[in-house]
Amino acid sequence: MKNINAVITGVGGYIPDYILTNDEISKMVDTTDEWIMGRIGIKERHILREDGLGTSYMARKAAKQLMQRTKSNPDEIDLVIVATTTPDYRLPSTSSILCEKLGLKNAFAFDLQAVCSGFLYALETGANFIRSGNYKKIIVVGAEKMSSIVDYTDRATCPIFGDGAAAAMLEPTTEDFGIMDAMLRTDGKGLPFLHIKAGGTVCAPSYYTLDNHMHYIYQEGRTVFKYAVANMSDTCKSVMERNHLSKEDIDWIIPHQANMRIITAVTQRLEVPSEKVMVNIERYGNTSAATLPLCLWDFEDKLKKGDNLLLTAFGAGFAWGAVYLKWGYDGKR
Ligand SMILES: CC(C)(COP(=O)(O)OP(=O)(O)OC[C@H]1O[C@@H](n2cnc3c(N)ncnc32)[C@H](O)[C@@H]1OP(=O)(O)O)[C@@H](O)C(=O)NCCC(=O)NCCS
Repeated sequence: MKNINAVITGVGGYIPDYILTNDEISKMVDTTDEWIMGRIGIKERHILREDGLGTSYMARKAAKQLMQRTKSNPDEIDLVIVATTTPDYRLPSTSSILCEKLGLKNAFAFDLQAVCSGFLYALETGANFIRSGNYKKIIVVGAEKMSSIVDYTDRATCPIFGDGAAAAMLEPTTEDFGIMDAMLRTDGKGLPFLHIKAGGTVCAPSYYTLDNHMHYIYQEGRTVFKYAVANMSDTCKSVMERNHLSKEDIDWIIPHQANMRIITAVTQRLEVPSEKVMVNIERYGNTSAATLPLCLWDFEDKLKKGDNLLLTAFGAGFAWGAVYLKWGYDGKR
């Protein structure tokens, strides 16, 4: 009997309407379009501004489009994994809210929190459920309302992040396509360099934590930058080596969209030309777990059946990794 593998059979996405430009950010903090474009490479990011709407709103829009494009019936969905660090609530899970909104009756669902590497972790997790033979349709979502944890008085972080969601359908195949390999890593030494100080179980919310902006992202950018470049390029190289892939064999690199200079440094180390690198950071900024599926969504019409894709991400934890996948269909669904 042939082994079962998991293949992506469609993608869906959603970006909120409101565009926060560098010029508008320059009115909030002491910065310029020139600095942001030169040091980060972001021109604009989209923000979910409407009161009462959270991450599940964007996840639902992305998943609905995915279900339409893959002609999936709600009753067929077995599992939903939502990679997010900005859930609607502490409890219940955002994925449970998504099940309700999508009318899924036969699925189980959970959230997965691995910050910017969330989609990579969720993809490999979902693939293993498919490989077990017991699951036929799995929705893997990366969705974030990063604007809810960004301090818009801090010029070192507020230009970086944006909101958005995208989703991929995983289904079984016995052909030579799909998630071929994954190398995922976690090292908790990253805590001091990238974290949110309050609101968890160590430091409960209080007037003090609110007054001192302790519910927002704190990062030491230079240190994160250095680890991101080294770890993303090293895991990509390891995955290429153990799958006997030369740089010519790679059709597309899909890097986490955190900083254009990080993307350039990683792809230069891999010696892959820029035409083979998916980049949309200029328009969306860093949407954390949503960056990778948003790239697939944006570039879907350029993808061909059999293309070799290398996805890589790095983020808080530190958590990082690379996934090698063989694309399963031609063009846009
Ligand atoms: C955050 C980041 C863009 C900062 O760029 P950098 O070149 O490392 O800049 P530094 O933090 O060293 O700061 C350099 C100077 O620019 C200033 N600066 C920071 N943000 C600024 C802004 N928006 N506008 C103008 N100046 C700014 C700093 O205050 C500092 O000034 P100083 O030298 O007078 O102290 C960059 O480090 C980065 O992208 N790191 C990785 C972040 C990341 O990927 N995080 C998410 C993980 S997935």
